[in-house]
This record gives sequence, C-alpha cells and structure tokens, in this order.
Amino acid sequence: MADYRLHTIFYILTSLLSLAVLHWTVHKVLLSISRSKFKKANNCQPIPKYPNKDPIFGYDYWHALNKAAESRTLLSWLREQYRLYGNTYYARLQTANVISTCDPENLKAMHSTKFKDFAIDSRRKFAFLPLLGAHSVLLANGAAWEHKRAMLKPSFSRSQYTNLPLFERHVGHLIEAVRVENTKKGQVDLAEFFLCLTVDITSELMYGTSIELLTNGNKDLVRDMTQSAEGGHARWLLVFLANIIGNSTFSKSVSKVRNFMKRFVDEAISYRQHSESRSISAKPTARNFEGQQGTEPLDVKGRVIYLQQLSLGTRDRKAILDELTTILFAGRDTTAALLTNLFFVLAHRSDIYDKLRAEISVLDGERPTFEQLKGFNYLQSCLNEALRLYPVIPINTRMAVVDTTLPVGGGPKGQSPIFVSAGTNIAFHVTALHRRKDLWGEDAEDFLPERWEKIQGQGAWMYQPFGGGPRNCPGQHLSLAEAAYTVLRIVQEFSMITGRDSEPWTELIALTCTNANGAKVTLTEA
Ligand code: HEM
Ligand SMILES: *[C@@H]1O[C@H](CO)[C@@H](O)[C@H](O)[C@H]1NC(C)=O
Repeated sequence: MADYRLHTIFYILTSLLSLAVLHWTVHKVLLSISRSKFKKANNCQPIPKYPNKDPIFGYDYWHALNKAAESRTLLSWLREQYRLYGNTYYARLQTANVISTCDPENLKAMHSTKFKDFAIDSRRKFAFLPLLGAHSVLLANGAAWEHKRAMLKPSFSRSQYTNLPLFERHVGHLIEAVRVENTKKGQVDLAEFFLCLTVDITSELMYGTSIELLTNGNKDLVRDMTQSAEGGHARWLLVFLANIIGNSTFSKSVSKVRNFMKRFVDEAISYRQHSESRSISAKPTARNFEGQQGTEPLDVKGRVIYLQQLSLGTRDRKAILDELTTILFAGRDTTAALLTNLFFVLAHRSDIYDKLRAEISVLDGERPTFEQLKGFNYLQSCLNEALRLYPVIPINTRMAVVDTTLPVGGGPKGQSPIFVSAGTNIAFHVTALHRRKDLWGEDAEDFLPERWEKIQGQGAWMYQPFGGGPRNCPGQHLSLAEAAYTVLRIVQEFSMITGRDSEPWTELIALTCTNANGAKVTLTEA
C-alpha cells in the first residue's frame, strides 16, 4: 500500500517536472521564433562582441573594468574598447548582458524616440539607494517618475536661474574665502570651494534657506557628502559583492548626511501645517505647471521653492528626505565638477584666461545683467568646451524593459539596427562620444572654445552633457548660469591665475566625474 502511494507521488512529481520542462522548452522555442521574426522585420544585424573568456559570469570584463577604475583610467580604457570593437558592442558583465555605445543615433533612440522602451536599471538603483532613497527621482521609473518630474519642474523656472543677486551673494562669499586662503598659503585648491558654493546656492534655491557652507565652515558635512558620493560609485562597481564586503565609511557618512537633512524635512512639514492652517489648498497638479500663477506655493519673490512644493504633495517624511537629498547632490557635484575642470584648464592656459578677461572688460568691473551674461559668447564656449572634453556624467546606463532595437551598431560597418532583448543593460559613454574624431574633427582632444563659433545649435545628439529627451537634466539652465556667473566674477577679481599642479587631468568618478587633483592655483589680484 505504502509502496503504491510512493509510486503515485513519484509519478505525479515526474509528470509535473516533465510538463514544466516541456513548457519551458516550448516557451523558449516560441520566443526564439518570434524574436527571429522581430529581428528580420527590423533588419537587425549581429553586433560586435567583446571576446569574453568567461561568457557566463563575465568575470573577465568586470575584472578589466575594475582594474581600469582602480588606476583611474576607466574613461580611457572604455575609449580603447570602442577603438577595438566598434562604437557599439556587446559584453557579458557580472552575469548581465551589456551593450556599450557611443553612437549619437543610439542615444537619440534611447532618450527620445524609443524613450518608453528603456528605464533606469537596477544597478544604479542598487548603488545609490542607501544615499538617495527609494523615492529619489534619479532612481524612479514609470508613473512614479513622471509625477516626481512634474513636481520638480516649477522650481527650475527662469526666475530661479536669472536671479543673479542670489548668485552674487554666494559667489561673493567664495571670492572672500578663496582670497583669504590664497594670501595665507600662496595657493588655493578651488575644487573644495566650488563644492561649498554649489551646496549654498542649491539649498537656497531649492529649500528656501542656504546651508551657507562657505561662511559657517561645516567641514564635516563637506567630507561626508564627498564620501557618500564616492561610496555610491564603489557600490556601482562592486554590485552584489558590495553587500558582502560592506563599507562602514560609506554607511556612516550616508547616515550623517541624511541626519543633517532632517532639519529641512521638519521645515517642509511645518510649512505644510502652516499652509493648512491658512487653508491654502494648493495641491500641485500638472495643469498649473507652465509658470501660471495660482495654486503653486510661491515665496515673496515669486519663486517656487521645491521644499514647499514637495511638502504639499506628500506627508511621507521619508519621501521628502529622499527627494531633498537627491536634489542637493544633483546640484552640488555637477556644477562644482564643471567649474573645477574648467579652472584646471584655465590654470594652464593663460591665453584663454586673457581672452575671457578681454571679453568681459566691457563691464568695467560692474555686475552683468542676465542678458549680458548670456551674451558673452567666449565665456559660454568655454563652459561648452569644458563639458565636452570633461563631461561631468561620463558614464550612464539604462535597461531595456521590452524586446526592442537600437538603430546602429549591427553588421560589418556597424550601420544596421541591432536587436536588444528585454533586460539588456545599455551603457553609454559620453567622453568617448565627445572625443570621436569622425564627429568632432582631428582636434577632438584639444580644448578649443573657438570650435563653438561654428557648431552652435547643431548635432544635438553628438553633444550630450545634459542628456536628452523627457529625462534630460532639468538643472541645465541653472547650472550654466551659475557657472558662467562664477567664472565671470573670478575673472573680474583676479588678473591672472597660475597652475600649481603639473599632473595631467585625472578622473575622479563618484556621482559625477571631476579632476582628482582639483584645481590648485595661485591667484593674482586685478
Ligand atoms: C554641469 C551641471 C550639470 C550636468 C552636466 C548635469 C547632467 C545631468 C544629466 C546627464 C542628467 C540625466 C541623467 C540620466 O538620464 O540618467 C541629469 C539629470 C538630472 N539633473 Fe542634472 N546636471 C547638472 C546640473 C544640475 C543641477 C544644478 C541640478 C539641480 C539643482 C540638476 C538636477 C538634475 C535632476 C533632478 C536630474 C534627474 C532628472 C530625471 O531623472 O528626470 N542637475 N543631469
Ligand atoms: C567605501 O566607501 C568609501 C567612501 O565612503 C570609498 O572611498 C571606498 O572606495 C569604499 N570602499 C569599498 C571597498 O567599497
């Protein structure tokens, strides 16, 4: 009897297993048939492959990538791979399928024409979740992202980035602090000061109150923010190993930063209570976002403050904390990196510095209007060129959420579409794109602001410092105005800068990429 029962159970189990295998096989065969049809219909051609020695775990590619990252040569290593395998190629990396690309057509498809087929990948989420939090706009997808994006929009209006007196106050603090250090030590690393300046400006614009790092000297916060960003990048490189290894420096700095931010969450909550008691029923909706007056929370100067905007959208403290932390990092590392990279160049190129001084001399030492600032073409070209040669976000990723295609990279010449299966990661490399000689000319490696006199307004997808499409950088105008104003004021105050560093530009990749050696200079008073 017992024997018979066992037999039946065994029989049922093996039948179920066979059914499952059959089901899986049929599924795979059908998928493969429908995929070949799809490939054929879309004229997809094979993509060049990185010669993985380990085609299952992709350990070799990962190892090579990490070795390059450790020696701070990741950007040039990546460019070398493109030279070897083509501008779009496939590799296996830590059990993931990765397509790497520096083709403008592919960026356009991913960011714009096929926007819905691609999402923020789990690797970015894993790396930056502890710091930015699950509610961060930088990690969100789908409807959640759309909502967050709509909440951001009014805080990036023209009235924010044309507010030159606000910039002046903080840049004034920067110039004072830099002057003191320059006099005391005979030289100064501008990088540290830029990281404070951008925090002070971003917090005033986005929270309504400035953190004032340039005057209160909260060095701990500066360090903790830097370690948080760098530790995030370390997680991005390690992926699941990061959980096994752990990182107490990173964890401690993240919790200190997020603790510091809680005062702004309190402020948001009390703003909400305050507005409720005045019965302002301002629920932010997509309808009133095009700068129309009405239900948005406005401060006295007619600006929309992100902190207030957020507080009216949610009561969730964690959500507010995540979003406020995200915007501070997005506004800090980026513009600071741009300024550091540009001043690193200026420190060694007095010809460019002199030309800048000549251009703005029409101001006769006075403060510019916003229109004047925008009208200084050489100044704007210097910023464009710094972002071209040293893009602040040189490596970025997406993931295909459905089976789809990218327009180029297939076939012998790399000019045919390629098939991209759901779940494939796409890595795109902006430094490689910005230094392609076939796109930019033989002088692609040179810092040449004059090139922008010819190419203004053209080739949007071959110049991608701010991304493109619906998910482009909302802070673009703000950061360019902020950076232009800062450069202009430093150039007004100092007649000459001298580089104090003979090292070449060296990558330091965290949330963004900047010169590892900063911008060490000696300044001469005008
Ligand atoms: C030189 C300065 C800057 C550069 C080069 C830059 C670059 C970028 C890029 C490339 C993206 C797209 C990321 C992606 O698609 O994966 C982005 C997104 C973003 N940036 Fe910037 N950024 C800069 C300054 C700023 C500033 C000053 C702020 C705010 C104060 C800011 C806020 C954001 C936000 C919130 C996003 C996320 C947008 C979204 O996912 O919808 N950025 N930025
Ligand atoms: C740990 O985090 C720090 C910054 O907080 C970073 O510099 C370091 O590379 C990380 N180490 C590892 C092993 O991830």
